[in-house]
Amino acid sequence: MCGIVGYIGQQEAYPILIKGLHRLEYRGYDSAGVAIINPDDRLNIYKHTGKVAELETFCEAKDIAGTVGIAHTRWATHGEPSDINAHPHYSTNGKIAIVHNGTIENYNVLKQALIQHGCEFVSQTDTEVVVKLIEYIQTSNNCTLLDAVREALSQVVGAYAIAVIDSDHPDTVIAARKSSPLVIGIGDGETFIASDASPIIDYTNRVVYLRDNEIAIISRNEPLKVITTDNKESKIDIQTLRMSVSQLEKGGYPHFMLKEIFEQTETIFDCVRGRVVNDTIKLSGVSDHPDRFINAGRIIIVACGTSWHAGLIGARLIENFARIPTRVEYASEFRYANPVINSDDVVIAISQSGETADTLAAIKLAKERGAFVYGVCNVVGSSIARETDTGTYIHVGPEIGVASTKAFTGQVTVLAMLALAIAQLKGTASRSQVAEVARSIQKLPELIKETLLLNPQIEKLSSTYTYVHNFLYLGRGYNYPNALEGALKLKEISYIHAEGYPAAEMKHGPIALIDKEMPTVVIAPDDDLHEKVISNIQQVKARGGSVIAIVTRGDTTIPKIADHVLEIPPVPEALSPIIAAIPLQLLAYHIAIMKGCNVDMPRNLAKSVTVE
Ligand code: G6P
Repeated sequence: MCGIVGYIGQQEAYPILIKGLHRLEYRGYDSAGVAIINPDDRLNIYKHTGKVAELETFCEAKDIAGTVGIAHTRWATHGEPSDINAHPHYSTNGKIAIVHNGTIENYNVLKQALIQHGCEFVSQTDTEVVVKLIEYIQTSNNCTLLDAVREALSQVVGAYAIAVIDSDHPDTVIAARKSSPLVIGIGDGETFIASDASPIIDYTNRVVYLRDNEIAIISRNEPLKVITTDNKESKIDIQTLRMSVSQLEKGGYPHFMLKEIFEQTETIFDCVRGRVVNDTIKLSGVSDHPDRFINAGRIIIVACGTSWHAGLIGARLIENFARIPTRVEYASEFRYANPVINSDDVVIAISQSGETADTLAAIKLAKERGAFVYGVCNVVGSSIARETDTGTYIHVGPEIGVASTKAFTGQVTVLAMLALAIAQLKGTASRSQVAEVARSIQKLPELIKETLLLNPQIEKLSSTYTYVHNFLYLGRGYNYPNALEGALKLKEISYIHAEGYPAAEMKHGPIALIDKEMPTVVIAPDDDLHEKVISNIQQVKARGGSVIAIVTRGDTTIPKIADHVLEIPPVPEALSPIIAAIPLQLLAYHIAIMKGCNVDMPRNLAKSVTVE
């Protein structure tokens, strides 16, 4: 939620900042802005409602010179999207500028106190309070910018990643974080700041992930210095990025979402690589902590959004193979539910970004109460990856499209491997059972490749459904969460209302909605519940509804009753959600495209939700 970029060095800052903002646009795109100190030590700030491209147009013919600057792309929390509320925010004297990702919970208390001191506010944001507080402290205490920032942060309650510049000190950028991510890229005579590594990778692969309560002092021609908010020097841990620029580009596809759907043959290969060995599963997160899993009384999965759907499938896999009672919680509910957590519980936190505020808070709560916390993340070095006791990366590469696709299939694949790894350890699945699923896991990339051949058929049938207002998605067993996920994909990018239901529950309510205006997508692979799902399809057809059915190749019954049939290759039941997810993703994509929607940046959404 919100993306920050900063630069100090020898090059012109503006192009670097703008390029960085484009990379971070997935984090929010309702307004954007830049602040640059020009060669005459004047602070120029330009902000504009809308996407980064609109900011670029606005900046044409403006003074954008300067080698130090900060920039921001916003997802509004406090105050509507507007030019005034866009970041950077600035001090009354026009010398200090700040960009901020996060939320300041006590901003109103601080604001009222500053108003008492004669301070005036122009925006409705919490961020303006921070920069005005810094200015107030700097003036009243006659102290350095660093001391003023440090003091201001000690008064602030909430989450923040910030970068601050001051035209009186044009050779320094101050950056700090608490609960919102911030990465510093160390170049040759230049330093970069960003919410994630994507704006940095073009220039350097040496990065430092700032930790909570750390402040970075980034000075031109001086080594990076990091202190804690209580003024102790921190050790700097420089890490090497394993990301490539090509992963951040569309690679010939019209949209990141389509690229990411098509990439799944490779991403699942990378996700599985080295983890299926001689028909067994090797996950160090499990084998390094055998007692935690052998003695686990219960598993609690916490996640949000698509990751929560993956969690629902994961719970079924774990209960089926590892026979440990498993429940799945929305992280946002779990954190406030005063949950019963025992020291023999294992909490699995699933998060693509590794930065989702609610999931992070749920992890902290679980740890405080003594649980062992296992992370399933994509972004290496992310906050959740670092907060958890151990875990497994899904290794699907950067996911840029706001609608999650390859991360979902990666998460389910990791959860399948996790369930099998625990089952091996506990002896709850026979060697041959594990071997059979393990071999199929290795075949997933090939099966995904075959499934992607459905693309032209799905594109064609999508035109039939572009103008409907409601969709129903039905599935059973492992594919009930897939029905939820298919519905979420469609609604988030096409703005068509869609609901996912367990197929047998349809008769308890949704059946009342069915008529010829409301299509139903039925996920009906050849599994134990196949016959029952056929009856559900009959019930839809009997009420005049049209049916798009996802079936296993060779199904002879459903093609006779459904309006459209999408055939997926045969796959063991436990892995079927991974394959069945692909036509669901493609269907949502093509319908949204036909409606003229911006699939990579749907309205009101952001990819990384770092606020509550
Ligand atoms: C946002 C994204 C979703 C994602 C969810 C959880 O809502 O738009 O795609 O599933 O956050 O994010 P996480 O990074 O924790 O998986």
